[in-house]
Amino acid sequence: MSSSRDLTRRDFMRRSASGVAGLGLLLDGEPVPLEAAPVMPRPASPADRVGVGFIGFGIRGNILLEAAKKTGQADLIAVSDCYQGHLGRAKERTDGKIETNFAQFRKMLERKDVDAVVIATPDHWHLSMVLEALSAGKDVYIEKPMTKDVEDGPKMIEAAKRYSRIVQVGSQWISMEQHKKAKEIVASGKLGKVTKITAAYNRNSSTGAWNYPIPPDLENGVNFNWEEWLGPASPRPYNPELVFRYRKYWDFSGGISTDLFVHLINSIHFIMGATMPKSVVATGGILFRHDGREVPDTLDALFEYPEGFHVNMASTFNSASTAGQGIQLLGTDAALTLLLGQGDMILAGESHREGYGYSIDGWPKALQDQWWEMDDHREESKRTAPEAETLKTSDPMDATALHMLEFFESVRSRKPCTENAEVGHHAAAAGHMVNISYRSGKTAVWDAEGGAVKT
Ligand SMILES: NC(=O)c1ccc[n+]([C@@H]2O[C@H](COP(=O)([O-])OP(=O)(O)OC[C@H]3O[C@@H](n4cnc5c(N)ncnc54)[C@H](O)[C@@H]3O)[C@@H](O)[C@H]2O)c1
Repeated sequence: MSSSRDLTRRDFMRRSASGVAGLGLLLDGEPVPLEAAPVMPRPASPADRVGVGFIGFGIRGNILLEAAKKTGQADLIAVSDCYQGHLGRAKERTDGKIETNFAQFRKMLERKDVDAVVIATPDHWHLSMVLEALSAGKDVYIEKPMTKDVEDGPKMIEAAKRYSRIVQVGSQWISMEQHKKAKEIVASGKLGKVTKITAAYNRNSSTGAWNYPIPPDLENGVNFNWEEWLGPASPRPYNPELVFRYRKYWDFSGGISTDLFVHLINSIHFIMGATMPKSVVATGGILFRHDGREVPDTLDALFEYPEGFHVNMASTFNSASTAGQGIQLLGTDAALTLLLGQGDMILAGESHREGYGYSIDGWPKALQDQWWEMDDHREESKRTAPEAETLKTSDPMDATALHMLEFFESVRSRKPCTENAEVGHHAAAAGHMVNISYRSGKTAVWDAEGGAVKT
């Protein structure tokens, strides 16, 4: 992509715009209906493609590679992983073309044809991989949560600035048209003042609770490199449970809060134009899944934002009930519900009906009659809410492909991504506040000056 670094943003936008016109656009060989078409540009010419390396090719790495293919903007150069089975799968997905690298990601960083890396390793590796990639001159797509610990954030932000590199953090929902529309609706004032937001993400299966299968051929020292997987974490004996189910253990993950809440938090920050909560109180526990996990299977958190709204966020792995799932923005004039994984939203206006009949029933009849005739009382007690509206969007385009598309555009234009290192740091830090409160039993308070959390 060497020559494309010099492209102006205008050039790129012109080219993108020309690529989306009309029907007949093919994505992954499938004709795309017109209403779903406006988002993916024409595939870039070979000279303009971003050379990409993938570090970590487990569950998410596979999805990211397919999304990168969908954008048509990237050359898939190399992939690094600690498990040969995952590297074999990368070959299968690329007709054998991608170069595979067994547990030596630094070798990939030396390659001149790799412009950008996509990091989808467990959280305990995020800080050092991002810093090494940035210092090697690579732009970085780093999966959420950006950080394993709050203090990692400022280091990544500083490195992105020092090396003038693009960073996109991987909470892909904000690239959906649904989220952009929700942001516009809030800004338009249509919801009135949003004072409360509820958000939930529930599951009820063993795999949903992160007991992912361990491949039967896994053999440390043969097709797997435990030391490299462990990396910056403190040494301990080989344990495949940690490798495939790391989200259950504090040394490698923040559990529900940094795996799932971070998506909801990032969406709320984006839609509400908010940066960080002032304080968080959380409670939770291991209420059902007594399988050796350290992190809770049920978690509830209350966030207070300086912009004057509160968030009530919840998750359980012990019921897949959809009650309250998604994000509900509760405004004084209307509520907007974002359904997760779908493009639709439901807009429900408030009636503002006054319950006078109920509240004056204990008055003498004559006084009630007199009161009904005063001001607009009769009218106010009859108001009805407008019928709830389903707002359709051109989603479901693949949110991950859209998020990666923005990254590849930024790599070429040098315009910062929407979910840059600051944004990713704040979403993760709010998630860490949940865990700090849960684990300490105290309120976690954000120290905006120091960029730290106090209890
Ligand atoms: N944005 C999303 O919707 C989304 C969804 C799933 C996962 N994620 C994030 O993606 C990341 C990875 O999650 P996952 O589910 O794919 O985990 P995973 O365990 O399936 O995959 C991680 C891979 O990283 C590899 N790895 C570890 N250390 C490495 C090293 N030093 N060099 C090269 N490879 C190394 C592992 O061998 C493994 O294959 C996590 O941060 C997770 O939060 C994001």
